[in-house]
Amino acid sequence: MRSHYCGLIHEALIDQSVSVCGWVDTVRLQSHVAFVDLRDHEGIVQIVVERESEEAFRQISGVGYEYCLRIEGTVRRRVSANDKLRSGQVEVLAGRIEILNKAEGLPFALHENPNEDTRLTYRYLELRRADMQRKMRLRTRLVSALRHYLDERGFQDIETPILTKATPEGARDYLVPSRVHPGEFFALPQSPQLFKQLLMVAGFDRYYQIARCFRDEDLRADRQPEFTQLDMEFAFVGERDVQDAVEAMIRHVFQEVSGVDLGGPFPRMSYAEAMARYGSDKPDLRIALELVDVAEHVRHVEFKVFSGPANDPAGRVAALRVPGGASFTRKQIDELGVHAAKYGAKGLAWLRVDALENGRDGINSPVAKFLDDAALEGVLGATAAQSGDLLLFGAGDYKTVSDFLGALRIKVARDLGLVENAWKPLWVVDFPMFEFDAEAKRFVALHHPFTAPKIDDVADLRANAANAVSRGYDMVLNGNEIGGGSIRIHRTDMQSAVFDLLGIGAEEAQAKFGFLLEALRYGAPPHGGIAFGIDRIAALMAGTDSIRDVIAFPKTASAQDLMTAAPSRVPGAQLAELHVQVVEPADR
Ligand code: AMO
Ligand code: AMP
Repeated sequence: MRSHYCGLIHEALIDQSVSVCGWVDTVRLQSHVAFVDLRDHEGIVQIVVERESEEAFRQISGVGYEYCLRIEGTVRRRVSANDKLRSGQVEVLAGRIEILNKAEGLPFALHENPNEDTRLTYRYLELRRADMQRKMRLRTRLVSALRHYLDERGFQDIETPILTKATPEGARDYLVPSRVHPGEFFALPQSPQLFKQLLMVAGFDRYYQIARCFRDEDLRADRQPEFTQLDMEFAFVGERDVQDAVEAMIRHVFQEVSGVDLGGPFPRMSYAEAMARYGSDKPDLRIALELVDVAEHVRHVEFKVFSGPANDPAGRVAALRVPGGASFTRKQIDELGVHAAKYGAKGLAWLRVDALENGRDGINSPVAKFLDDAALEGVLGATAAQSGDLLLFGAGDYKTVSDFLGALRIKVARDLGLVENAWKPLWVVDFPMFEFDAEAKRFVALHHPFTAPKIDDVADLRANAANAVSRGYDMVLNGNEIGGGSIRIHRTDMQSAVFDLLGIGAEEAQAKFGFLLEALRYGAPPHGGIAFGIDRIAALMAGTDSIRDVIAFPKTASAQDLMTAAPSRVPGAQLAELHVQVVEPADR
């Protein structure tokens, strides 16, 4: 149908006949000439239709936005070049126009930005936009670069089942009822975790898969119910082997796909240090601000909000110095409080340093009256506060305080333009093996239950479970967890002990993971691996905050596909065949 792509028509083609196909991006009709910007996936070329070409002119007078056209014509130099277009030096003088398809009045003009629901309902129209085409192409290049890199190094690409048994990664499962086995269900994999471990038991030395994962969890800008991992596993390795291999791969693809140099060896930081300094296990190192612990300075004060946690081994009292934050209005400070509350803060004490040299008189703060001179001086000294700064305080249990001050650190840095324009990767290591879930009153795995502890002895682990450190690791880039993995447990006794510590009894472990426990008995090799979030890496490369921008057909924040209207009800007969009955929620 066509000889060239619209966006690739260029000066070397001047005087040649070409045929191009595409969509009408804009059309301008004048009395003797019409101009159409015709667009395809490569870009735009200007089409000129002169009145003398009667039939063509008549046809072009009737076209509207997004009509799908085929044009035959001759390339010529433009009178006034358009330097914004790749094809901007030339245009196509149309001889013949073929209307391949009309376009009805569109639900939105491609140049407009309607709300996301509209865009997702008509995702195929939004995807026509040049910036969406660019992002999707970038994703293609990323996946292709990863595959190429791994294929060259002997990794085997092996598919694992989608209809399977639950693999816990901390979210709820999507279940699929079985028609032939009444009352039984498959689970969609939250990751290929167990299968890739079994591939190592099966003697495959290096595995990878671009794998779709399904997790029914609360969604955010960086979370989708189905997303894509680059999943990898290695036999006979320790954590440095895996880390070095994948760090080289990530460095390579950033260079190749985005021309970005991620620099020398990625720094390593322990989970404890990341929480202490940045209030996050995925610290954004582009932001210089750090949390400062001030418990020692407020232990003795009357103010229980501070002295309580300051004297509690499980508590934390910390401050975040916001340089120049004294210029914040009360309203802005209140907004910070609202933001902190989303992360569990019960309040947000603050202290404005108007004039440091004036001592207490130079300070404006609702909590200054609770702090005696020693406490005030201690806090100002510890934070190295300067005139013009604002101090924000968090007091409470360690995790909550870290979470909300960590979130505030990012917010104020963004608001004040304190985020360096740079790429800051790091490894976060030495995670606790278990986290105590106060509500459920039991341990939960910080990674997943197949992660090996650093302690190699079962009795030792049982004795020191609360403080045990795991062999897990995360790769973090600019405040995003782009990958996570670990060295795995490869012995049955240790795996059984970890299940037990997680409150998974022997019977339940047998029912859920009997196949794994048994496989580990038949000479399972030491192994480990990692999985990267392809959507997150693509979003970072594309410079967008939302992974929805790099997924062709994403779901909304409430896990719906607005275009196909899924999920949806199914006919009763189909349910009956699946032996499934729907219990209507009371409010329906
Ligand atoms: P994990 O659960 O850390 O590890 O997932 C690995 C990476 O996948 C990405 N990711 C997501 N991306 C989009 N939407 C989601 N809902 C989502 N959840 C996770 C993140 C994350 O770092 N089986 C282990 C890996 C291993 O141990 O080898 C696993 O799945 O970038
Ligand atoms: P209250 O005693 O609850 O009125 O709080 C006094 C001050 O301490 C107010 O400015 C609160 O915002 C602040 N505050 C209360 N709880 C916390 C907390 N957990 N962390 C930091 N500041 C708090």
